[in-house]
Amino acid sequence: MVRDAVGDLAAYPSGDRARAAVAERHGRGVDEVLLTAGAAEAFVLLARVLRPRRAVVVHPQFTEPEAALAAAGHRVERVILSGAFTLDPELVPDDADLVMVGNPTNPTSVSHPVRILRSLIRPGRTLVVDEAFADCIPGEPESLASVQLPGLIVIRSLTKTWGLAGLRIGYVLADAPTIAQLAEAQPLWAVSTPALAAAEACMTPRAIAEAETWARQLATDRNYLVSGLRSLGAHVIPNPQASFVCVRLPAVRLPLREKGFAVRRGDTFPGLGEDWIRIAVRDPDTSDALLKALEVTMNTSPTR
Ligand SMILES: Cc1ncc(COP(=O)(O)O)c(C=O)c1O
Repeated sequence: MVRDAVGDLAAYPSGDRARAAVAERHGRGVDEVLLTAGAAEAFVLLARVLRPRRAVVVHPQFTEPEAALAAAGHRVERVILSGAFTLDPELVPDDADLVMVGNPTNPTSVSHPVRILRSLIRPGRTLVVDEAFADCIPGEPESLASVQLPGLIVIRSLTKTWGLAGLRIGYVLADAPTIAQLAEAQPLWAVSTPALAAAEACMTPRAIAEAETWARQLATDRNYLVSGLRSLGAHVIPNPQASFVCVRLPAVRLPLREKGFAVRRGDTFPGLGEDWIRIAVRDPDTSDALLKALEVTMNTSPTR
């Protein structure tokens, strides 16, 4: 579908079909959907449109939501989780009128229960849930994408599961007036014809079933990786749900890089530090190779 769309590049894009497909997939009205150039564009649009008096970002999480708010001139407070990195709603100030959470969260891989997220919703508050990795969980039990509640905004990305980061496609689900406001702030034709074709293709029952199969395999592969890491004595944040795991393992990132394994540094995430790394879940053979390299590194590292 994406390749076919290249034949239509002479015309400006029309998002009608993709928007209808997204709405149908989540049981929402068409006027409750805004297609965006990735989740990243959604953060910028929200930051431009919302006028929070007290904006709170729950960390550790993807740093762009906070960066977008700051770039639009908003002051941002941080709620920093620790321990098992589960969300305690008591930590969120009562008068916060904008709260941003990732679910499941990058980089911790923690999925917050829908019950906890719902408890954050209240009159006068906007709750933004970044569900860029929601389709990593079979059946998406903790997703709020289909829930219509005042003040609730859900952001989704098609770039993760589908490996389409270069295409730039995501969407926002919210009440119709919020979507209309965001649409007004969005540049004309922000989402290209091939990206719209991808959105449509990813909403078909066949694509959803394929993503579900992938998510089940992901869970198996993740269990394999986690048990290998734990058998080496690494501390893995419990109950990971996304396509990566977050691990406290000091002084291994650079030696691993020399051995051909790129793991994500943790020190750029508020609430983590340089002892932390994020490791992508791969097939068991790749995990075995990584675990072997890790074992060698741990046995030779002078700081361990
Ligand atoms: C949690 C999270 N949300 C959103 C994004 C951005 O997604 P997109 O490629 O759709 O802009 C990322 C990218 O890494 C991410 O990790």
